[in-house]
Amino acid sequence: MTQTTIDVLKIREDFPILNREVNGKPLVYLDNAATSQTPIQVINAIVDYYSNYNANIHRGVHALSQEATDKYEAAREKIRAHYNASESKEIIFTSGTTHSINLVANGFSSLLNKGDEVLVTAMEHHSNIVPWQMLCERTGAHLKVIPMNLDGVLVMDAYHDLLSDKTKLVFCNHVSNALGTVNPIAEIIEAAHSVGAAVLVDGAQAAPHIKADFQRLDVDFYTVSAHKICGPTGVGMLYGKKEWLQKLPPYQGGGEMIAEVTFEKTTYADLPHKFEAGTPNICGGIAFGAALDYMNSIGFDNIANYEAELLTYATKQLLTIEGLKIYGIAKEKTGVISFNIEGVHPYDIGTILDKLGIAVRTGHHCAQPIMDFFKIPGTVRASFSFYNTKEEIDSLVSGVKRAAQMLL
Ligand code: ALA
Repeated sequence: MTQTTIDVLKIREDFPILNREVNGKPLVYLDNAATSQTPIQVINAIVDYYSNYNANIHRGVHALSQEATDKYEAAREKIRAHYNASESKEIIFTSGTTHSINLVANGFSSLLNKGDEVLVTAMEHHSNIVPWQMLCERTGAHLKVIPMNLDGVLVMDAYHDLLSDKTKLVFCNHVSNALGTVNPIAEIIEAAHSVGAAVLVDGAQAAPHIKADFQRLDVDFYTVSAHKICGPTGVGMLYGKKEWLQKLPPYQGGGEMIAEVTFEKTTYADLPHKFEAGTPNICGGIAFGAALDYMNSIGFDNIANYEAELLTYATKQLLTIEGLKIYGIAKEKTGVISFNIEGVHPYDIGTILDKLGIAVRTGHHCAQPIMDFFKIPGTVRASFSFYNTKEEIDSLVSGVKRAAQMLL
């Protein structure tokens, strides 16, 4: 295994929240798949915006408006460069992945016909299921499910069998939020394109671990939420190939998304503004750019190598606990461990861990079909970031042992 090249103790100094205590114990934050923590560099970018150049963008001739516009557009360009999109107009600022997916689902209402088919994987978050079900209700298209196996890995033969000339869209997360599985999106995209279908990849859980290359993947749509990558909540992006974004109708009407408005007819602005009605989360967009700068200063290869070490270590330690079962054992996995202990409800384990200062998520993780597949009510999910340590994993393991002793 590649040894880590990151200095985790130094990195932790960037995160003020990691110094706090919870229930009288040092915080052990292992709920990174729900939201990541925020480094001082991003906090400073937010403070700088509100302290020095808060103004509305794309609207004013005055200096503050120009400065805010330049920084907001510079953030869009940073996002483009990070993901290797070909043009910054293909990056649409949204409030996050859910907004991004709904924007596309709404747009496809006018492009799908009765009898068309759309494919979704068995391991999606509700945000990558429900908008497509709503789209199918509106259009008469059929939703079909790409199955997974008991390891939490997609059954690719079944996917290839499901594809046909009726398939118009395929939806797939890059990484499963509940299992950590990294899906083979390059293969999924190539096969979908061979039957003329477009692909939307939900990149919310991949973004903190994997730097996707949009042109190389040839992906049609890709979504990211900034708060998963050390940025603020309430901001994210939709990438769409220019040809697709030009075809889709606007999602919301309002200021800034128009070219000309009369009571008889309105024409729409060019990309990206066509999809950015109203005053956006300006500070959030700028902080999103600052978060990417921060993560790139550590390096995504370094992050991936270090998190792989944490995952291997935690998996080995947790499996020493009697009755503990891990859900999602794909070879290609990010630092997510979903588990249960036989005879114990996940919520009870989570509650005891919280008393020990350890933050994990419990429940169905907004992925009920996965829980139904495994016939369980939910799991305890520990999810790691590059600022976690092996000592924190030791605390998790001893906390889970203690919970098991108390509850069994
Ligand atoms: N989707 C986020 C999670 O998996 C909130 O926890």
